[in-house]
Amino acid sequence: MYAQLVKSEGAKSREEMTPEEIAFQERIDRGEKIEPKEWMPEGYRKTLIRQIGQHAHSEIVGQLPEGNWITRAPTLERKQILLAKVQDEAGHGLYLYSAAETLGVSRDELLAALHSGKMKYSSIFNYPTLNWADIGAVGWLVDGAAIMNQVPLQRTSFGPYSRAMIRICKEESFHQRQGYDIMMKMCAGTPEQKAMAQDALNRFWYPALMMFGPSDKDSVHSAQSMAWKIKINTNDELRQKFVDQTVPQARYLGLTVPDENLTWNEDKGGHDFSEPDWSEFFEVIAGNGPCNAERLNARVKAWDDGAWFREGLMAHAGKAEARRRAAQVAAE
Ligand SMILES: [Fe+2]
Ligand SMILES: [Fe+2]
Repeated sequence: MYAQLVKSEGAKSREEMTPEEIAFQERIDRGEKIEPKEWMPEGYRKTLIRQIGQHAHSEIVGQLPEGNWITRAPTLERKQILLAKVQDEAGHGLYLYSAAETLGVSRDELLAALHSGKMKYSSIFNYPTLNWADIGAVGWLVDGAAIMNQVPLQRTSFGPYSRAMIRICKEESFHQRQGYDIMMKMCAGTPEQKAMAQDALNRFWYPALMMFGPSDKDSVHSAQSMAWKIKINTNDELRQKFVDQTVPQARYLGLTVPDENLTWNEDKGGHDFSEPDWSEFFEVIAGNGPCNAERLNARVKAWDDGAWFREGLMAHAGKAEARRRAAQVAAE
């Protein structure tokens, strides 16, 4: 989902590359990982900072719609599960900010870019979670779509990013299952509970499809990102996989995917389905989704409220450094 805004020009041809760039591309083609201190083209560094940064922002902004329900979880067990899941997302943000920092950008810079609106996060988190069924739908569909996107990224060429993805994917599959488990419970409940589950599916289906980004034919195809193995699959490939995986799960729940055009296509071995409303997607990305302002305000407030703590840490680090220097001088 986090690759959805990463636009890029066509890949450079061999004739346009410098000898250094050719050697770099050959390393990637051989499946070698690129590590932070090694030479890399400036475009590779910049694209990765944008992609990993957006991904990190999505993890921490993604805590907000679910955090909203921790205090209202229906049982103690559900509360514990949701707490663990929301904490995992904070951890994902931290691994990813750390991975981005190895590329020469500070966490403060990345957060400043989020707060000013210069950097984006996944469009999905600008939709509200209205009731408990939405928490099920988010785990099932949103974390499900995230896994679809992130599993291939475990093979991405940048070492720290790929290693972060391996750990994140393990946790994401737990997130997806806890969401599906909530849906199973609701669908086996009263007719009203089942209707809530259906309503949540109706509202989250198309926003989940949007998470993979615009259609390949309409988007600037990121040939360069594919050549660099920063992006492994196209948006449409991932969306197709997601639909094919999710439709049988919806059937098992006894729910209806809100798409009249959904049919199995024997020839392609996958489902035909309706495209989401892309004008809605671009509106949300532009800042006009139902919760954009609320999400960003919550992040900015968290940053401002944490100022005293950051200042305290810096003051402590300063004193520790002064003590270390004084001890060094005394020892000489
Ligand atoms: Fe996550
Ligand atoms: Fe997750």
